[in-house]
Amino acid sequence: MQGVVKSSNTSKLISAMTLTKLGLTHVPQRYVLPSSQRPNLDHIVHSSTSLPIIDLSNLQNPSLRSHTLDEIQMACKEVGFFQVINHGIPLSVMNDALDATTEFFNLPMEEKMVYLSDNVHEPVRYGTSLNHVRDECYFWRDFIKHYSHPISDWIHLWPSNPPTYKEKMGSYAKVVQVLQKQLMKVLLEILGLNPNYLQNEIEKGSQVLVANCYPECPEPDITLGMPPHSDYGSITILLQSSLGLQVMDHNKNWLSVPVVEGALIVQLGDQMEVMSNGKYKSVMHRAIVNSHKKRLSIASLHSLALEKKIGPAENLLDKEHPASYKEFSFKDYLDYISNNYILKGERFIDSMKKNP
Ligand code: OGA
Ligand code: NI
Repeated sequence: MQGVVKSSNTSKLISAMTLTKLGLTHVPQRYVLPSSQRPNLDHIVHSSTSLPIIDLSNLQNPSLRSHTLDEIQMACKEVGFFQVINHGIPLSVMNDALDATTEFFNLPMEEKMVYLSDNVHEPVRYGTSLNHVRDECYFWRDFIKHYSHPISDWIHLWPSNPPTYKEKMGSYAKVVQVLQKQLMKVLLEILGLNPNYLQNEIEKGSQVLVANCYPECPEPDITLGMPPHSDYGSITILLQSSLGLQVMDHNKNWLSVPVVEGALIVQLGDQMEVMSNGKYKSVMHRAIVNSHKKRLSIASLHSLALEKKIGPAENLLDKEHPASYKEFSFKDYLDYISNNYILKGERFIDSMKKNP
């Protein structure tokens, strides 16, 4: 589909990058959030206790393994969030992927417009905010997202500019996919399931890579880069170039996720909450913006295959623990967000609850 502009509203797209280049002193009106939804930047909470950093190499050490599994289990139950270090992905591969992201967003607008689409079912999609056609209120974010697994099915559709994009993002996509499978085994084990549960489905699962760009914003206190949401999949593995991701803890406080060199962020998504029958929670998170430094992030969203339904794992259910959620697939989620606007406060996961 390269070369074909996929939206009827192309002439109206003004990216966040374009606005930043204009050097505005105020954000345009459509970026101004109602006061109840604004971030409180005077009150940034850094809590290292609720946001653990897990050394994955400890899982190979017989004397540290069980303590490390306990730490991960606690993180999954309490917040649905942790960071990992010593995960086996070289820093150079992570930095190359961030470089490819920088270069892509620095391209002239016409080059990026080739991938513009407001259709959430599109396998490669560039845009601004969440959806430049549907959003009533805009978010200070540009993005390119693409299906990434199995890579040979999709890589020919990815941006061919910058010339190294496919190689750098491709290397990152492949190693993150491997890490995802390792993490899923661990998460299933600590749920009390066979680590090989759904192995084949996880192997054939979907991976969507989302590169986000949050350029400097003149009024970061009245807008957001991304609104509060949880991700649809099993897990999301996220790389951030600088501070900006916030997660909600069980007291509904927003915690800023510290930047740890070489670390990757792991967030549980809605499929994991459903599969665990609510033992694990999908984490609510958002991105704040700032006035002095462009921020990049790359989210790798993992789920079962597009049409594969997932429900609570049978082995977790009995008379006292009936299924609390309905089954759903990645496609069901896409259909839902095509018809519902997430800022209205409705969460997809709530529509999957049997007794909300
Ligand atoms: C996402 C997301 C947060 C960030 O892409 O789903 O939540 O920090 N990104 O960019
Ligand atoms: Ni997210």
